[in-house]
Amino acid sequence: MGYSNQFFNALGVDPKSRPEINKLAKRVRIPSHRLSYYNEKNILPSGSDMVQIEEELGVFELDLAIKMGRLDHASTELIQQNADEILALLKDHRNSIKPNPKDTDSLVYQSTLGSLHQADCLDFLTNIDSDSVDLVFADPPFNLAKLYPSNMDDNLRVEEYLKWSEQWLKECIRTLKPGGALFTWNLPLWNSQLSGFLHSRLTFKHWVAADIKYSLPIQGRLYPSHYSLLYFVKGEQPNTFHADRLPTPTCPKCFDNLKDYGGYKHKMNPKGVSLTDIWTDIPPVRHAKYKKREGANELSVKLLDRVIEMASNPGDLVLDPFGGSGTTYVVAELKGRRWLGCELGPCDVIIDRFQKIENDEKHLERIRSELNHLYPENIRKERERRGLWTAESVAKKNSPQDYPKPEELQLFKN
Ligand SMILES: C[S@@+](CC[C@H](N)C(=O)[O-])C[C@H]1O[C@@H](n2cnc3c(N)ncnc32)[C@H](O)[C@@H]1O
Repeated sequence: MGYSNQFFNALGVDPKSRPEINKLAKRVRIPSHRLSYYNEKNILPSGSDMVQIEEELGVFELDLAIKMGRLDHASTELIQQNADEILALLKDHRNSIKPNPKDTDSLVYQSTLGSLHQADCLDFLTNIDSDSVDLVFADPPFNLAKLYPSNMDDNLRVEEYLKWSEQWLKECIRTLKPGGALFTWNLPLWNSQLSGFLHSRLTFKHWVAADIKYSLPIQGRLYPSHYSLLYFVKGEQPNTFHADRLPTPTCPKCFDNLKDYGGYKHKMNPKGVSLTDIWTDIPPVRHAKYKKREGANELSVKLLDRVIEMASNPGDLVLDPFGGSGTTYVVAELKGRRWLGCELGPCDVIIDRFQKIENDEKHLERIRSELNHLYPENIRKERERRGLWTAESVAKKNSPQDYPKPEELQLFKN
């Protein structure tokens, strides 16, 4: 997975010709492996490498930035200052960056609250009304050369993947109501690059790190241990924001608190601790009991419950353009939200899941029963039996004005 030779093209070198690359290396006094690295990763050279390219080839940083599509704010400013001349050159291309709406007759399933289409997300999204959706959740393929049941190409050139991601994100943003929320789940590798695009159209709320190991430890690298969940809203403020509160962690054997709250026990909110932007309690879906399809990623009901609860109300419209096994759709349905979705590949797994929705319903009930209490019911009872403090036992000292002040709340994080 690399870029498609923008660096060598910008310097007029044939990327397939070793002799040409070696000749260039000699001329600019940069080792050929480093030139190949700039080319493969589409990285702008810096320091003496850039000086040598400038001196030997007369190619400046601005030339490379534009030709390699690596604009920083300074080069963007120059383009802005010369916008009229540049736009005159590009006037025939103005419409080429707009999507080409295709009428699709792709409905494959309708539930009480939602409808599922078997379609390419770009075709599907262009047919959704502007400003009509309350919440978008998207878990796209990660371009890791995985084999999906849809047989889609999961091994695109980097700039192709990013361009495609911006296309569907742009469409999702168009469909969002003012005040609507967009969440996108991806590897930090991709979300770190897509966040710049999102910042140019939406208001940033959070980068949530969901602590789930997703790869094997490799020497010379940190062990990749979190997925990124970007959360943006359209306009200044979200229409809806109600984050669940979580139980405080306890030892599974002795039921004591894992954290010492010292003299602050009586100030603990009986509804639990505040949700932070690091989520350590989202399980990977590996267990056969919960897994709906083999192979490609499937997200946990707990994750979708949290997002849907936080950023929508019953009756709101939830959109997910990458159906997979349908986690978003069943959770939306069970929580009384209307939903819209599409999946490029076979949709029978999703339809089948709706036929047996009571399995997900029970699972969701279990998940929700643990939220918004300082201790889940079974743990509260066990603590009482062992003479350990509970929200109720310290409640006498608890009046609303006793709740922690924001600076004290820092103590209770995690
Ligand atoms: C990571 S999975 C989504 C998993 C889903 N969140 C779940 O919990 O089951 C991504 C899905 O997007 C589908 N997909 C890939 N490209 C697509 C496209 N252009 N339009 C619609 N769906 C697409 C893939 O077939 C795959 O099922």
